[in-house]
Parts: sequence; C-alpha cells; structure tokens
Amino acid sequence: MNPVRRDKEEAVPVDRCNNVADFRALAKKRLPAPVFHYIDGAADDEATCRRNTLAYESCDLVPNVLNGVETVDMTTTVMGQTLRMPLFCAPTALQRIFHHDGERAVARAAEKFGTMFGVSSFGTVGVEEIASAIKTPKLFQLYFHKDRGLTNDMIERCIAADFDVLALTVDTITGGNRERDLQTGFTSPFRLTLKSLASFALHPRWAFGYLTHEKFSLPQLSGHLKEGTNVAISVGDYFSSMLDQSMSWKDAEFVRKKWGKHFCLKGIMSVADAKRAVDIGASGIMVSNHGGRQLDGSRSPFDQLAEIVDAVGDRIDVICDGGIRRGTHVLKALSVGAKACSGGRFYLYALAAAGQAGVERALQNLHSEIERDMKLMGCRTLDTLSRENLRFR
Ligand SMILES: Cc1cc2nc3c(=O)[nH]c(=O)nc-3n(C[C@H](O)[C@H](O)[C@H](O)COP(=O)(O)O)c2cc1C
Repeated sequence: MNPVRRDKEEAVPVDRCNNVADFRALAKKRLPAPVFHYIDGAADDEATCRRNTLAYESCDLVPNVLNGVETVDMTTTVMGQTLRMPLFCAPTALQRIFHHDGERAVARAAEKFGTMFGVSSFGTVGVEEIASAIKTPKLFQLYFHKDRGLTNDMIERCIAADFDVLALTVDTITGGNRERDLQTGFTSPFRLTLKSLASFALHPRWAFGYLTHEKFSLPQLSGHLKEGTNVAISVGDYFSSMLDQSMSWKDAEFVRKKWGKHFCLKGIMSVADAKRAVDIGASGIMVSNHGGRQLDGSRSPFDQLAEIVDAVGDRIDVICDGGIRRGTHVLKALSVGAKACSGGRFYLYALAAAGQAGVERALQNLHSEIERDMKLMGCRTLDTLSRENLRFR
C-alpha cells in the first residue's frame, strides 16, 4: 500500500488525527474540492510526487540497543539557525485560502515547536506582521520576478523585517502541468463560479471562515502587480508569465549579495548545481522537486540525497525537502547526511483541517515519532545517525 495511504478516505476528528494520512482525509472533507486538489495535486501523472514518499521505503533502519536513551536531543543547526526539531515548515503559497488564519496559524505552531517557518512570496500575511508575531527562525522564499523592482522590494522588506534566511526558488522557471487545477479551474484569488459557489455551500465551515475574515490578498506582491492579487489567475500561468525565465547563476549571486545573510537555493537536484551553489556562497540547498508539482518524472530528493551530500555536504547545509510523512523518513534522510528535512503538505493538510490546533498536532505527532524512533534506534543525538544505520534493499 502507498505509504501516504492515499486511499484512506475516512475522516476522523482532529484529536484522533495520528498521522499525515488522517489529516489529509480530514482536509479533503473540510475543503472545497478545488482547494483540496490544489494542495494535494502535483504535475502530470504525479509519479514524482508519489515517489518522493515511496523512496523512503527503498531502505531500512538498522537499530542499535542498550545505549541509555532516557533523554534524546533532536536539536539541529541548519543555515545558522538552531531548530529544536530536525523538520521545518517549507514555504507554501496562499495559506489563508486553506484556513482563514493561514500563515499566522503555521507560524505560531512552528514557534511552539522551536522550528523554522518559511513564508512564501505568495504568502497571504505580510513579512512584517510575521516578523513581529514570532521569534522562531524565519525563512523567506523568493520568486525572481521579471519586475526587478518587485524582486528587490521583497528582499529589502525581509532585510528590514530581520528575517533569518532567504531561499531563492529555482525550480519554477515555468509553471508545472498541474492537471487537477486545470480540471477544477483553481485560481488565486479563488474565483466565484457557479461550481465554486456550490462547493462553498457544501463546505459551510470553510466558506464562513473565508468570507467573514479579512479579504484575500498577497501582501508580498502588493503595490507592484494586479495578477495574483485581484485578478484570478492559475499559479502555473503566474509562474509562466510573471517570473523571469532568463534567471541565471549571476542573478542568484546578485540576490545573495543583496541579501547578505544566510542564503539558500530551493530546488537543487544535481551535483553540478549543488557545487555551483557552494561557489556562489550559499549556506544551504534544499534538495527538492517542489513536492512533485513541477517536473514530473524527476528524481525524488531522498533518492538523490547521497550523491549531493557526498559532493558538497562538508561545505554547505543540505536539506531534504518533500515526501516526509513519518518520523522515520526524517531519520533516514539525516542518516544519509541531510542536516534537516522540510515539507509542505504534512502541515498544510493539518492547517486546512483545524488551523493552528491542527498544525500543532501535526508537528506534535512528528515530534513524538522522531523522539520515539531515535530511542528505538538507540540514538541520543542526531549526529550519531549515519549510513551505518541504513541498508538499501
Ligand atoms: C500547496 C503548496 C503550495 C506551495 N507553494 C510554494 C511556494 O509558494 N514557494 C515554494 O518555493 N514552494 C512552494 N511549495 C513547495 C513546498 O515548499 C515544498 O517544496 C513541497 O511542499 C515539499 O513536498 P511535500 O508537500 O511532499 O512535503 C508549495 C507546495 C504546496 C503543496
């Protein structure tokens, strides 16, 4: 059976959601179909998305015992940030469409667990508000726009708001072919059609939340463009028309220099690119295929991790992004040599299901799993994990 148990449809209440699959089933029940499929869907046949999680089953953990594991320490330091757990919330777009508290809910939950929170260029709460609300490490995810004024403005606002890390996304040079969105007609802002009105009626709790809270906006983009803020457009069309397809290594280096603090490239998959990331002075790379939402048929981050760690792991922090559904997935990635893992859907399903309480429970579930799994592995600190603990089938 697929490890995310995609076939699991029965929704249970939040206080009985014990894993990502439970939250997914609850999100599916609570959200209008186009919104659920925007989160859940991926590109083309979604093979890469499935593989991102399945890859973790290509190897097994080999535990050690009798190691005195009454207390375990799951602290890790990545890109200069000390995280109390080795999994953080990757930046994701449009969160107030999923739940009316959006980024506010995810940020507060991340702070409670002492982990990093990523804010998207397409975030629905401004970087200034996030910065004043939480003290946990904050990463801003930058989309490099054709409109250089907008790109520079976002960097300057994050400098002023004292964000800790800037991640430049490099795998969205054009929009992925997300066929579920084509089918449902999902756009940002959510377009009011007869079909979507019917969805509203069938999901009154979500509709009440969406319609009775502050109007949808994309504050990171405000003042610069209409598309994506008040003109309904699909995310894929936005990527293809508004982002700069001529973006190059020179541009990435320019962004790093302008930013001046810890800098990360999100969406690195090849060893050659990982080496270039080191050359331009990045402190981290997120090995990622955007959760399978861009190039279907591309390799999974976990499958690709070892060769990247072997090439650059002593010079740059390597983060394994995507497909994480269990604590053991995190331990496997760390055993290969990642400094931390990150993910989107594991907390987005929970946000959609129950706002901040949902994200807290999702993080608690994974925190407990990592802690239990470390004990079962005979491992008191994360740096004792190594490839010795793994056997590939
Ligand atoms: C609904 C959704 C929206 C996303 N929005 C962004 C975004 O705005 N910027 C970005 O760099 N990545 C975005 N991502 C990708 C995530 O940062 C992350 O790479 C991906 O979710 C990892 O896969 P996972 O969902 O299996 O954990 C998004 C992912 C999802 C599911």
